[in-house]
Amino acid sequence: MLPLSLIFLSCFALVNAGSANRGENCTQSNSRLQTGTFQFFSDCNSVTYCAANGTCALKGCRKDDFPFGYTGNTRVPDKCGRGEFCPDEADACLPLLAVGSACQLNRDDQCEGPPNFVELRDTTNRGLNFNGSVCLNNKCMWANKTAGNTCTVENTAYIAYGPSGEFIDIVSRGDCVVGLYCDSASKQCMKEKALGAACTADKECSSWNCLSTGTCGTDTSVPRHVGTWVYVIVAIGIFGGIFGTLTGLFLLHRRQRDQEREKRMQYWREQNAFHQNLLQMRQTARASILSPGNGNSPRSTMYGRDGMHSDEAPILQHAAPKGSGLRHYMGDDSSEYDEGMMMQPSKRGDDNRF
Ligand SMILES: *[C@@H]1O[C@H](CO)[C@@H](O)[C@H](O)[C@H]1NC(C)=O
Ligand SMILES: *[C@@H]1O[C@H](CO)[C@@H](O)[C@H](O)[C@H]1NC(C)=O
Ligand SMILES: *[C@@H]1O[C@H](CO)[C@@H](O)[C@H](O)[C@H]1NC(C)=O
Ligand SMILES: *[C@@H]1O[C@H](CO)[C@@H](O)[C@H](O)[C@H]1NC(C)=O
Repeated sequence: MLPLSLIFLSCFALVNAGSANRGENCTQSNSRLQTGTFQFFSDCNSVTYCAANGTCALKGCRKDDFPFGYTGNTRVPDKCGRGEFCPDEADACLPLLAVGSACQLNRDDQCEGPPNFVELRDTTNRGLNFNGSVCLNNKCMWANKTAGNTCTVENTAYIAYGPSGEFIDIVSRGDCVVGLYCDSASKQCMKEKALGAACTADKECSSWNCLSTGTCGTDTSVPRHVGTWVYVIVAIGIFGGIFGTLTGLFLLHRRQRDQEREKRMQYWREQNAFHQNLLQMRQTARASILSPGNGNSPRSTMYGRDGMHSDEAPILQHAAPKGSGLRHYMGDDSSEYDEGMMMQPSKRGDDNRF
């Protein structure tokens, strides 16, 4: 039962919502950010929020393009318009907050932008600020601190999970202008470091990637390009593999073909030799019948007739009948016996068994 309940609990953590349906009781004070993940949690399920009257009511807005938990016929609430934001609770759209107002963690979009938002806003897609404004330590401010200014820093320790288990991932945010970072120790805006410079955190590098060796590495979002020689080697590998296989198969099959041809050749020579032996036997028999004093023997009827091939010119008359490779191939276990049987005619030419 324990593993099941654990799975159930972890499902809860995944959907980031309670189980209470619309109209069911909830307690607003239970709404919180989850430990480690800092996801918003309430007693109500993912399509409702905990209203002030202690019941779950349908959400009134959304901040995501594709909000979680909506199925089939559930109506998805609209996103908020310009100058408004949808809070974590998602009860209703609220007007943007002025500098100094309380905002929710990582919700830079809840704060009103500065007049010079065009030059302050983050266009690097790193989430440094939203439209020039930033929410640090739950307070709206503008990301307008320049080099040497005292800045505000917010360090959030997330629980992250890697192959070697749980570890703490500290995300450090500040209100310096884009291109500078807020040094946690001195609370001063510093210039982002170039490739190869010594660093202690990702935020210090302009590439946003502080390697484990303590130097700034290349941007992990930059596509990796390989040299032309790699393409050449891959192409050679592919075509070499194809033609190598074809050539190898051709050579292998040619050898097999030659072996088969040689076997047939041997078989043919053997058969021809037997045929010649039979002709000789027949001629010997005929000669012995025709010679005086031998009279008519029953053999004369057997051997008297001219064979169909008696006049055929012997092609390989005295070719030594080697054991046929084909026969060897067909029955390896009785090859000696075969050999003996087939060799008999040549040894005992006038054996009348043949
Ligand atoms: C919900 O709250 C109301 C009022 O506090 C209470 O009467 C009711 O029993 C509660 N319902 C459940 C299912 O807890
Ligand atoms: C509780 O408040 C919500 C939102 O204002 C409203 O939709 C719902 O009808 C109220 N429920 C009760 C029981 O008053
Ligand atoms: C950015 O902030 C300015 C000034 O408050 C505002 O006029 C503008 O609409 C904002 N832009 C976006 C995309 O929110
Ligand atoms: C910088 O932003 C703060 C609010 O965070 C504002 O009070 C201050 O006037 C701004 N300074 C400049 C030079 O824009």
